[in-house]
Order: sequence, then C-alpha cells, then structure tokens
Amino acid sequence: MSVLVTGGAGYIGSHTCVELINAGVDVVIVDNFCNCKKSSINRIRALVNKDFTYYECDIRDKKGLDSIFKKEKIDSVIHFAGLKAVDESVYKPLEYFDNNVNGTLVLLDVMRNNGCKKIVFSSSATVYGMNNISPLTEDMQVGGVTNPYGRTKFMIECILQDLYVSDNSWSICLLRYFNPIGAHKSGTMGEDPNGIPNNLMPYITQVAIGKREYLNVWGDDYDTPDGTGVRDYIHVVDLALGHVKAVQKIEAGSGLYIYNLGTGKGYSVLDVVKAFEKASGVKIPYKIGPRRAGDIATCYSDPGKAYRELGWKAERDIEEMCEDSWRWQSQNPNGYPD
Ligand code: NAD
Ligand code: UD1
Repeated sequence: MSVLVTGGAGYIGSHTCVELINAGVDVVIVDNFCNCKKSSINRIRALVNKDFTYYECDIRDKKGLDSIFKKEKIDSVIHFAGLKAVDESVYKPLEYFDNNVNGTLVLLDVMRNNGCKKIVFSSSATVYGMNNISPLTEDMQVGGVTNPYGRTKFMIECILQDLYVSDNSWSICLLRYFNPIGAHKSGTMGEDPNGIPNNLMPYITQVAIGKREYLNVWGDDYDTPDGTGVRDYIHVVDLALGHVKAVQKIEAGSGLYIYNLGTGKGYSVLDVVKAFEKASGVKIPYKIGPRRAGDIATCYSDPGKAYRELGWKAERDIEEMCEDSWRWQSQNPNGYPD
C-alpha cells in the first residue's frame, strides 16, 4: 500500500510517517516546508529501516501534484498540509482560506483525475465550537467556530461530505484531533514552532529550557476544578497510530467516517504544569493572566467511536507525554537544525 502524505514533514505528519513505515506502508511525502525544516526528513529516515520519497511541492501547484500522482502509484492520501496558527489566521484570513481550503480543492481535483478516491483529513476539535458540552461525540452539531483557522477545518469537512454525497465511491475519513503533545521516544522528532509558541506544551518546554521566563496562564476563573482551562491532551505517537488504523479503514471500502482522536480525559493548565514538573524535575514559574479570546473552559473527547470502529485507543498517559516532550526539547533546544 502506498500513501501520499501531504504535510508529512511537519509535527504530526513526521510521527505518522514513522508509524506508517513501521506498519509496512510505503510513504510518499509532499511538503512545501513552509512550517518545518528539511532536516525533519532526515530524522524520519534515521528512525525507519526503509527509504521513502519526498517532494518539495505546494499542494496548490496542480501541475506539480499531478506529476507526482503520475509518477508514483498512490493508493490513498493523508492530508495534513495546512496552516494552523489560530491568531495568525485572524489577521491573514485570505492566506488561510487559500492555503487550507483552496489547497484541499486542488488536491481533491488531482486525486479524482488520477483515480485516487481515498483520503484521511486532519480536522480538529475546534469544529465543535463553543456550545457543545464535553465529552464531545461525533454526532454533535459542528460549525460554531470562532476564527478563520477553525472555519477552514469546518469548510473542508463540508466539502468532503458534499464530495461523498456526489460520488459514494470515495472513501473519506475525517479525524478530529484534540490536543496533540509529546514527541518520539528517541528524542529526535518533536514539535518545533516558529517564534513564540501559542500552544501550551511548547511554551512550557521553552520555559523549562530557559528561553522564556514564565508561563502565562490564560485565566483562572473558568468553571473548572482549579479555574484554568481543561483540555484532552493526546500523545502524538498515539495520534499517529490512529492514522494507521484510519488508512486501513479507508482501504477496506468506500464510506464517510468521522472519528475523534483523543484520550477522553481532561487536564487543566495547572495539572499539565504539575505533570511536566514531575516528569522533568524542572520548576515552571507561571503568572495568571486574563482569559485568551476564543478559549472555552473545557474541551475533551468521547473517543469511544474510534475504539469501536477502528480498534484504536490512546495508550500513553500525561506523564509519558510530558517526559517525551521534555526529552525532545532538552536534546534539541533550538528545534530541528537548518
Ligand atoms: P505542522 O505545521 O507541523 O505541519 C503541517 C505541514 O504542512 C508543514 O510541514 C508545512 O510545511 C506543510 N504545509 C503547509 N501548507 C502547505 C502547502 N500549501 N503545501 C504543502 N505543504 C504545506 O502542523 P501539525 O501540527 O503537524 O498539523 C498537521 C495538521 O493537523 C494541520 O492540518 C493542522 O491544522 C491539523 N491539526 C493540528 C493540531 C495541533 O494541535 N497540532 C490540532 C488539530 C488539527
Ligand atoms: C488551540 C486552538 C485550536 C487548535 C489547537 C491546536 C484556540 C482558541 N484554539 O487549542 O483551534 O486546534 O490550539 O493548534 O486558539 N494556555 C495557557 N498559556 C499558554 C498557552 C495556552 O494558559 O501560553 C492554555 C489555554 O488557555 C488553554 C490550554 O492552555 O486552556 C490549551 O491551549 P492550547 O495549547 O493553545 O490549545 P487549545 O486552546 O485547546
């Protein structure tokens, strides 16, 4: 089986490629390297015993993408490529809609022209919006999103569902990720954000190595056990293994499938700080700040459907997530080499 992985050199894509190759799947990576370093490709290579091909190509480059499909025998696609910074999307909406939505349209057109109708898409818990009560299940109403990034995810979900209605020989899997953190056990692959991290775990690890003075905790007056926001953190390797199961599912027959990929457990910001301090032995100073616009109090999954239908569940706990994040950050204080 040969899987084309768009955005395969990024954080989740690179971990997924390792698990796919370990499972005997042939991988072809397409990435324009706009949000990752090329050295991540070498790190993937060093962890697997099999070579693979990668192409530097933008998914909006129809000709380039088409020539890759003509050259490689692609059975299915895992589509990670996209821009993902929520705050940036607010002041660059056109760039986000072009890259994420238009990029997906070009990809789907090229797939169809080449007779490839199987795709796994990286969606997000953000599509559940502000009004659903956790634990979130796949049948809840989606779409109450609060920013352009989230809207691109919701729009792409709609596009893929309309596509399936128009032609039910497609096999489409929408994976709604909760909060991926952690890194590969080797300490050689992990999350390498540009600039000041927006997300909690990369911010904590940068405080731990001394790049940032303290963590800003965005609000302690939520209706949660300690007042700070509660999220469903999932180890990136568990998430990667969910993609291996999803690819097997779409290979087995046509259909439209939607799964949450989370652990089903919620941890507050301060729970994560404590778990990280325990795992790393490093104290994380923090200050309580105001709420961050667009945040909700609590968001965690019901991951039962993925277990029932894919036989997948997350195995790695918060302690392991923190240990692995710390190993990656402490061994690579400046992330991937240029
Ligand atoms: P990432 O930025 O590390 O990976 C995305 C990759 O796509 C990068 O390597 C980037 O260079 C590439 N890319 C972007 N636009 C491209 C284009 N037009 N053509 C070719 N390559 C392009 O992000 P990630 O955390 O690995 O996320 C992967 C996917 O999962 C994204 O679609 C993201 O929106 C989604 N997602 C991520 C999270 C999270 O917390 N990390 C949560 C929910 C959903
Ligand atoms: C955010 C995005 C979501 C996206 C996800 C992964 C928003 C509103 N949501 O989710 O769309 O899919 O990232 O990219 O931006 N926190 C702090 N201090 C920090 C950073 C975070 O206290 O410096 C808190 C947040 O308030 C939140 C929790 O930590 O309660 C997790 O935040 P984060 O890692 O940014 O993820 P989400 O907000 O869940």
